[in-house]
Amino acid sequence: MQGIRIRQGEKPLKGEVKISGSKNAALPIMAGTVLEPGEYVLHDLPILRDIKVMRAVLEALGAVVEQKGKSLLIDTRDLSSAEIPDYLMRRMRASILFMGPLLGRFGKVKVSQPGGCSIGPRPIDWHIKGLKQLGANFKESHGFLTGWGSSLTGREIHLDFPSVGTTENIMLGAAKARGNTVIRNAAREPEIVDLQNFLNSMGASIVGAGTDLIKITGKKKLQGTEHTVIPDRIEAGTFLLAGAITRGEVKVLNVIPEHLESVIAKVREAGFELQEEGESLTILPSGTRPNPLDIKTYPYPGFPTDMQPQFMALLTLARGTSVLTENIFENRMKHAEELKRMGAKIRVEGRTAIIEGVERLYGAFVESPPALRAGAALVLAGLAAEGETQVVDIEHIERGYENLVGKLQKLGAEIEVFNVEEEEKNA
Ligand code: UD1
Repeated sequence: MQGIRIRQGEKPLKGEVKISGSKNAALPIMAGTVLEPGEYVLHDLPILRDIKVMRAVLEALGAVVEQKGKSLLIDTRDLSSAEIPDYLMRRMRASILFMGPLLGRFGKVKVSQPGGCSIGPRPIDWHIKGLKQLGANFKESHGFLTGWGSSLTGREIHLDFPSVGTTENIMLGAAKARGNTVIRNAAREPEIVDLQNFLNSMGASIVGAGTDLIKITGKKKLQGTEHTVIPDRIEAGTFLLAGAITRGEVKVLNVIPEHLESVIAKVREAGFELQEEGESLTILPSGTRPNPLDIKTYPYPGFPTDMQPQFMALLTLARGTSVLTENIFENRMKHAEELKRMGAKIRVEGRTAIIEGVERLYGAFVESPPALRAGAALVLAGLAAEGETQVVDIEHIERGYENLVGKLQKLGAEIEVFNVEEEEKNA
């Protein structure tokens, strides 16, 4: 098991950090390459575990994939299977994004129950309902889900909730369906806009992504394409908070500030000054502890659930009591218990955390919950804590952050990766 050690916290971070391409934009786009046989070139993919799993799924389906730096050349002309191996499904929930495109291409798909972060029950009922509305049939047996339908047909679909993955799966399924599809109450996340841009560059006809009404005119034939994914807004937000929590000065490069508006608003409300300059954002050092905040997570453009754990870390040091409410996921507060080991005062009641700010956090041995943003929150807390912090079981952090430790080192953090078993042996 690997761990992250922060040798000495309370050190203001200083410098510049380049944000990687967005993991959550890249995953549905990679799935989209199976929709039409062709050659695809995707640029600025982050180098991290979830992308590797997605690549492995593509290869298991029969695609030929070659990596050149941060680009992937994906040839999906000769796919041999529409079945996603169970061991890959278990490794990453986003594998379900292959359902729409595989149905669109082959009229069939077989998947098992997906894995991924442990942040409450994450059913796929809305994905299935949406694809059924396009004419697909589904059968579940022995833990496997088989979908079939000779040709998908466009429909008006009203989502019960603006689910990101459901919106993406329907877009992917509808791009080649017969006739027109309308998605109402669609998710509005920037990653959905990136998927629309990718699919349109394949020859699809989609408008409205970024609003709650997406219109898709099905096309018989699409083609391979080249696409650069958008920067990762959650990675950018995490580094801004690394600056904030250490009272440092961190400039994040390669960001689209518009994607971070709700995060920027909360950073400013907490009392920090942020400078915006083209595609960069700089957080300036603050002389005092952060102001307490009231935060509720909502679908985009509301405050992102993927920034909730990192803000909880920051607010443990606020000058007063903050209230954090998690509206998207049922069980996304596991990091609170670990933060308490570091001296934080947090009371969790259902989906709400009441955080009484303390003057100081203390380095401790903490375990990253199996959720990648929760792990990042513990690292942030460690950067601000007095003394040494060890965050163990960092597998999930590595699923979502490219070279987190290296990037923090460049900002001056005394941080390193270590092997937990080896250290225990030597102790
Ligand atoms: C995506 C992001 C994830 C982010 C989330 C919310 C990717 C790869 N992941 O996840 O990082 O935290 O959006 O912004 O892009 N739900 C159902 N039934 C379904 C589908 C979803 O009940 O069929 C529920 C989920 O359990 C959750 C809520 O809907 O409580 C939101 O989920 P959704 O927007 O679909 O998130 P994901 O696409 O899984």
